[in-house]
Amino acid sequence: MKRIITTIALAIAASAALHADEGMWLPSLISQRIQDMQDKGFRLNAEDIYSINQASLKDAVVLFGRGCTGELISPEGLLLTNHHCGYGQIQQHSSVEHDYLKDGFWAMNRDEELPNKGLTVSFLERMEDVTTIILNGYSECMSEAQRAELVKSNSKKLIEDSTADGQGLRATVESLYYGNQYFLFIYREYSDIRLVGAPPSAVGKFGGDTDNWMWPRHTGDFSMFRIYAGKDNMPAPYSKDNIPYKPKKYFTISLKGVEEGDFTFIYGFPGRTQEYLHSSGVRYIGEISDPHKIRLRTIRLGIQKKYMQQSQDIRIRYSSKNASVANAWKKWQGEAKGLRKMNTVSTKRRFEEKFSRWACGSRYEGLVGRIDSLYRELEPYSYATDYYAETARTIELANFAAKVGRMYSDGKFSKSRLEEMSADFYRDYYAPIDMECFAAMMDEYLRNVPEQFHPDYLKNSISVYGNVSVWADSLFSNSIFTRRGIVEALEEDGAEQVFSDPAYIFADSFSKWYADEIWPRIADTERELQLAYRDYMRGMMEYEESVNGKQGLEKFYPDANLTLRVAYGNISGYSPADGVIYEPSSSLKGIMEKDNPEIFDYNIPQRLRDIYASKDYGKWAGKDGEIPVCFIATNHTTGGNSGSPVINSDGNLIGINFDRVWEGTMSDIAFDPDFCRNIALDIRYVLFTIDKVAGAGHLLDEMSFAE
Ligand code: ARG
Ligand code: GLU
Repeated sequence: MKRIITTIALAIAASAALHADEGMWLPSLISQRIQDMQDKGFRLNAEDIYSINQASLKDAVVLFGRGCTGELISPEGLLLTNHHCGYGQIQQHSSVEHDYLKDGFWAMNRDEELPNKGLTVSFLERMEDVTTIILNGYSECMSEAQRAELVKSNSKKLIEDSTADGQGLRATVESLYYGNQYFLFIYREYSDIRLVGAPPSAVGKFGGDTDNWMWPRHTGDFSMFRIYAGKDNMPAPYSKDNIPYKPKKYFTISLKGVEEGDFTFIYGFPGRTQEYLHSSGVRYIGEISDPHKIRLRTIRLGIQKKYMQQSQDIRIRYSSKNASVANAWKKWQGEAKGLRKMNTVSTKRRFEEKFSRWACGSRYEGLVGRIDSLYRELEPYSYATDYYAETARTIELANFAAKVGRMYSDGKFSKSRLEEMSADFYRDYYAPIDMECFAAMMDEYLRNVPEQFHPDYLKNSISVYGNVSVWADSLFSNSIFTRRGIVEALEEDGAEQVFSDPAYIFADSFSKWYADEIWPRIADTERELQLAYRDYMRGMMEYEESVNGKQGLEKFYPDANLTLRVAYGNISGYSPADGVIYEPSSSLKGIMEKDNPEIFDYNIPQRLRDIYASKDYGKWAGKDGEIPVCFIATNHTTGGNSGSPVINSDGNLIGINFDRVWEGTMSDIAFDPDFCRNIALDIRYVLFTIDKVAGAGHLLDEMSFAE
């Protein structure tokens, strides 16, 4: 084991940069990258980024909820994140009388700030390598299952020990490099988080799904919260008596703006990447999974759109559902295209051949082939899983029926819960869309999934009804779930009625089939793959070390796993296609060019038009006299980096990350410096919006500005 640990410690040790801008680095080990960062323009030290002895930038960055990032910008706990990260909270406080999504919301004093049940933010107290503790008791002859047990029990004990002093401490043990290394992360979690402000969606979601994943972009994707604490500044549940949290560190804001080539760095919580996949894994994603999932979603989006165009009411009801279907749909298109363009599969294959020759006679011999054959075993099951997830699992009626069914089968029937669930479900439900999707998705399933993976229930239904549309008709007209009145009248004794409902039976039969016939096979193969990848990862590092020395090792950063990371790069335009060049920043002028009251996504608030006409920009304009809106850079980011601070070479805040360009979304698997760009909101647009559009300039008084 010792040897492995040294190898990995070395792996992260940096000398000269080979892969410019690629990488999501562990902050506690940033001293190994700091020289490269400084060479590229950064003017601070490793201790300024991460320190456990003094306040450092890490103390100004939080995990916002369970999937976004936020940053502190005042000594009184003021926090910035994206509009799409605070969306749920903004929506919760909205009603017909106060539509904060539509009109925006600004607390004009502390008493008006709105508490949010269930929302937390977590500060990383510290992180440390705990590999030896977690693998204490491990021997090579253990099975994967035994090893997993050991890791679980050692982690549990370590977590209990490290959170013993209470006070909102939360800890996790995370595996890095496929379980070659383990890190402990200790967080302090605050739960009294209040909404301070949000721009209207016409600013915060400007461009909607039309512009999502795209450049040039003009979205003012931000919202503002404040962290509250007990009198001792420690986490406390919501109370009127809580006081604004005093951070150890908060960001100073720079109004200097950005120019092509400027150094930037992103500090945040990227969710998931798979940079070390075997070519067979990449091939499956790029050539099979993505194209099929894209095609299935294209069909669903088409059906939704057809109905949305027919009525304003349906458009509103399906706008959020449509957005979430479209988000991944667009990302996968960029991913599949990017992987093709980069020839990732053949590049990886060439590497694997070289690796295999090198591995001859070592413990890594045959590993590449073994992973390939595990993928072959897995593929039909992954394919069936993808189809199940994108067809049967997307039927809204069936999902709702299953949810109600679970309430009965868990013995937890509650009338008020049922009413709540129904209100949620029926508010945004339109059965004709769901029914048409049902027929289309089942048709796709039957056509494209081999018969061996047709559940008996599916075969029987087709033989009874003859075809999918007759089946759909029968299911939707016989189910009680298409009739809100009957569902809401259900009582404690309604179990039989629910369990015999065709929508419930549909969901239940598919899920039993999946649990009995698909999942166990996947779980077995995944366990073996995990073991093989652990060896392969180690092997790749040893290979690089023996072939390229230290320089070869330095490209091994751990895959993202929603832990705090540093990514750095520079402001940079790109050329998405022959004959096209994109500049790296956008401005208010571009918003006016897109402005169109007829198009929902591009209809801006009148106030913004008036300000543009009067050019009343205050101090927020850039050198060219325009209000800057967004910019792009080469930082390596992924989902979870939403809301992350974008920081300049002096360590000051210049923007908020919120997206990537679609041509670069393959960076979750392979990073191409020519196409991979993160998209950030310029901090000056945030301040302009607060000051000039919202009239909430009092908030600026608590912020600090670099001149
Ligand atoms: N594409 C961004 C992120 O993944 C933003 C998504 C929210 N915005 C939207 N228009 N749907 O996840
Ligand atoms: N919008 C994404 C998020 O919610 C960030 C975009 C990306 O995947 O890079 O985290």
